[in-house]
Amino acid sequence: MADLEGNINAKDWGTDTPQRSWDFHIKGAGQLDFGMQHRLSRIFGADGHTAMLAFDHGYFQGPTSGLERIDLNIVPLAPYADALMATRGVLRSVIPASVDNALVLRSTGGPSILKELSNERVAMEMADAARIDAAAVAVQVFIGGEYETQSIANLNAQIDAGYRYGIPVLGVTAVGKELARDARYLGLATRIIAEFGAQLVKTYYVEEGFDQVVAGCPVPIIMAGGKKLPVIDALTMAFNAIDQGAAGVDMGRNIFQRSNPTAMIQAVRGIVHDGLAPAQALELYKELSNGAED
Ligand code: R5P
Repeated sequence: MADLEGNINAKDWGTDTPQRSWDFHIKGAGQLDFGMQHRLSRIFGADGHTAMLAFDHGYFQGPTSGLERIDLNIVPLAPYADALMATRGVLRSVIPASVDNALVLRSTGGPSILKELSNERVAMEMADAARIDAAAVAVQVFIGGEYETQSIANLNAQIDAGYRYGIPVLGVTAVGKELARDARYLGLATRIIAEFGAQLVKTYYVEEGFDQVVAGCPVPIIMAGGKKLPVIDALTMAFNAIDQGAAGVDMGRNIFQRSNPTAMIQAVRGIVHDGLAPAQALELYKELSNGAED
């Protein structure tokens, strides 16, 4: 017979305390269901910010500098990142499943750097993202690109699938060589992605009008890193993005192509989570890397 003693003695009902309702702290996500909110919470954390490490470049670039050996170069950085952005191939083959990072899975692709990059298709089923325990999937969106409509169709297919599984979609603004990288363009692209239902958007920082790009996007903006810059420039860019309303950064080459990536990711994390100014973050980088400036 089942032991029912606990039931008999239950008396701690707190009848004078109404059951608590929970507000949700992530922009535009207050009306999403539990699985979506839980996954977004893993990406962003309690302060609503995220330091994401991107190393998915191989899906169209092959073994980029700094990513030749992900087991040697990237795995040691994982403890300093809130989220890892990667392909399912690298996650399954190289990343230990014991990591406690939120996982953001690259879910579209097709063309290599040898072809027209906007000609992407959905590259994985949402069921596999669920098997991997992804916190989100990433979809590249080519507003103004040759295959703009196709990339929007990819986005919509993944958003529909994401709702079936409770997995958010990160829409990524892909800037082609021929497209201007300014606030007018990025405001257009980020808003379109959010209007179709992406729960978060990744885009580049621009010196003029980034705050308006953020304001016009009803879901969190995560700043993409871009090509390697001098340390102070990369840190200043991350600081400015957060200062102007970005919910986080997703940086790759500006971290893993450094002489000391471990120091750099900690400096970036200091900006994102601890409010360090660029000069303070630079000092931290130098201190942790024994004075390195590259
Ligand atoms: C996006 O298209 C790429 O796959 C990377 O995730 C993204 O560019 C971030 O990396 P990086 O900071 O090196 O630009």
